[in-house]
Amino acid sequence: MSFVKSFSIYYGALGLMLAASVVPALAQPGRGGAGAQLPAGPWMNKDLAPDQRADMVIGQMTLDEKIQLVHGGQGGGFGPPQPGAPPNRSNGGAGWIPGIPRLGIPDLNMADSAVGVTRGAARSRYSTGLPSSIGAAASWDLKLAYLYGTVIGRELRDQGYNMSIGGGVDITREPRNGRNFEYQGEDPILAGRMIGQLMKGVQDQHVLGDIKHYAFNDQETGRNIGNAILDQRSMRETDLLAFEIGLRDSGAAGVMCSYNKVNGDWACENDYLLNQALKKSFGFRGWVLSDWGGTHTTVKAALAGLDQEMPGSNYFGDALKKAVESGDVPLARLNDMVHRILRSMFAVGVIDNPPVEKVVDVFKGLEDAQHIAEEGTVLLKNSGAQLPLNAAAVKSIAVIGSHADVGVLSGGGSAQVDPPGGNAVPPPPPPPDSAGRGGRGGFGGGRGPVYYPSSPLKAIRAKAARANVEYAAGTDPAAAAALAKASQIAIVFVNQPTSEGRDVATLSLPDNQDALVSAVAAANPHTIVILETGGPVTMPWLDRVSAVVEAWYPGIGGAQAIANILFGDVNPSAKLPVTFAKSDQDLPHPVIPGIDLQPVPPAGGRGGRGGRGMLPPFDIPYTEGLKVGYKWFDAQDKQPLFAFGQGLSYTTFAYSGLKAAPAPSGATVSFTVKNTGKRAGEEIAQVYAVLPQGTGEPPKRLVGWSKVQLAAGESKAVSVSIEPLFFSIFNVEKDAWQLVPGAYKLMVGGSSLALPLSATVKLAGI
Ligand code: BGC
Repeated sequence: MSFVKSFSIYYGALGLMLAASVVPALAQPGRGGAGAQLPAGPWMNKDLAPDQRADMVIGQMTLDEKIQLVHGGQGGGFGPPQPGAPPNRSNGGAGWIPGIPRLGIPDLNMADSAVGVTRGAARSRYSTGLPSSIGAAASWDLKLAYLYGTVIGRELRDQGYNMSIGGGVDITREPRNGRNFEYQGEDPILAGRMIGQLMKGVQDQHVLGDIKHYAFNDQETGRNIGNAILDQRSMRETDLLAFEIGLRDSGAAGVMCSYNKVNGDWACENDYLLNQALKKSFGFRGWVLSDWGGTHTTVKAALAGLDQEMPGSNYFGDALKKAVESGDVPLARLNDMVHRILRSMFAVGVIDNPPVEKVVDVFKGLEDAQHIAEEGTVLLKNSGAQLPLNAAAVKSIAVIGSHADVGVLSGGGSAQVDPPGGNAVPPPPPPPDSAGRGGRGGFGGGRGPVYYPSSPLKAIRAKAARANVEYAAGTDPAAAAALAKASQIAIVFVNQPTSEGRDVATLSLPDNQDALVSAVAAANPHTIVILETGGPVTMPWLDRVSAVVEAWYPGIGGAQAIANILFGDVNPSAKLPVTFAKSDQDLPHPVIPGIDLQPVPPAGGRGGRGGRGMLPPFDIPYTEGLKVGYKWFDAQDKQPLFAFGQGLSYTTFAYSGLKAAPAPSGATVSFTVKNTGKRAGEEIAQVYAVLPQGTGEPPKRLVGWSKVQLAAGESKAVSVSIEPLFFSIFNVEKDAWQLVPGAYKLMVGGSSLALPLSATVKLAGI
């Protein structure tokens, strides 16, 4: 099937999903909601192991019932209902798979939920728009990642969903990737640990989790056609390591394979990725579902390890049934697919504890979203202690740009959470040929970037009640500069809209915003820049402004979070989970592979979901291999604009007394952190390791960290345990992780480029 075909099926079905909304959900058997009647088969015994329960169900299933579970539901929004197909009980999410009521197996109702539950608008449901995942990753806080997952799981459950299909961990190999806002940054250990806790948070709500997009979907340009090329060791130690850690820490039920090819094979039929790495080596016990339209074959995909075609039935419907009947796909393999799905459903509790629909707790969601934003906002520059602002003393403030009068930006695509009341910055009417295709939330179909109704201007006015706070849109730099000149402080909001389906061509801010900042900075020496970006950007005006705050896409509580940071009610503690380069030229790929290719005119007149039509096939040679992010900058001896791990506080910290010792499992590092300033704060203390010479590793890697809370003047002893995996390299010949015996230099400090302490430990190999 061509991708274009799956695309049109998908969109064509949106109308059907809306029609389905009139079906009274809880009256439907097997839907998984509170009303479902569960038969008392022996597999309903909660004391039995999930694997045993799954096998008991499989023993009762017909071939058709097994086939039904391994592809997206017909009539569930993905094509016309087929004769004999089960009734459409879709909950309106991106995916629906009918369950088997006679055996008490509920439907799988899946929703995109990378930064909150999506597609609320069509059914007038509210979901909390969380800060972007990269922003949450900037907290380096595992508890916060868990909280993030909890919000998503809770709200999915409240809305009748039992599976999340969000939770991305493609690492930031390409800082201009349009989906970086959905991911967890550039370091596999940080990203893997954060996504692991996030998924645990989801699954602890009895909602199935899913980590995506497996793998190397590290750019959106040509995502349906590009062929990522890299060697096995680099694969295992970079992107795949993030998946391995995330799955290990969470037991997530699902892995969504990506659209792209990897070393010549589609990711969804890639034996190495699915069978060898994921299932055999990581020991993954859940199931692999294809990204939407990412299945390409029946037999090859089934034998390579794909367990579920999503959505539709082109390959895993009748074609798979025939392949099983002919023996081209062994029945045991089909049973394995079904076993993986059912055992996950039992293990996570979606059968024993089905979702109970209720109104989402808006207040709790707001509180959580704001807290996450506060913990993820990074203070990048603060000359002359420009921040925090003194609310009692400040007399006039110019707030400029980025629609800061009404809202904060969010990321586009399938992760887009519908804002309450609609887009705070309504786009101009879509061009006539895009009618009906705006529902995706991206920038396609004529919809512009979506702003949440969280107004920084209002939040700043509320803080500085005695000040005269005026707003300029920033579309006219001269007018903005004039307002800045007449004000004591100028706060310029700038943004970088990003979305699924497209990359940004450059790290530069779009829409002449650099000129805007320069004009304002020339007019007012107290210029503070607030960035609302999906990832790193360049800052040609950096030397001329006094403070810079990276707020990412800060979510529904964004304005309050930003104001709390600006006025010091919250002391910033976040650190960058990605490197900010000085220019595109400093990146491993100064130009995104494929971005200059011309789309091939699509059959049937539609563009692929890549947003630019289908590009001709092309390779994405990841020649940087292991050297992703800061590892590239270290190896090239290039100075970034802002380093991985960098971030300021309103207080200062000092490090001392490093001791490092081998431990039975890895190593233990202990040191002291002191708050040397005048206010309480939190420091993310980081530990990096230099691997022994001859291992062929980049200069250093992050191996651990600890977030330490300190009152003014307080010192604390910190101890960080580092597990062997984090010191290991992947030995391709042995097809195993290997801890090379030798001397490991450990360096400790507050950023990847500020590591005042070092010590060496000798580790015995494994
Ligand atoms: C995206 C996935 C998403 C799916 C369903 C795809 O285009 O790549 O991340 O889960 O659509 O909406």
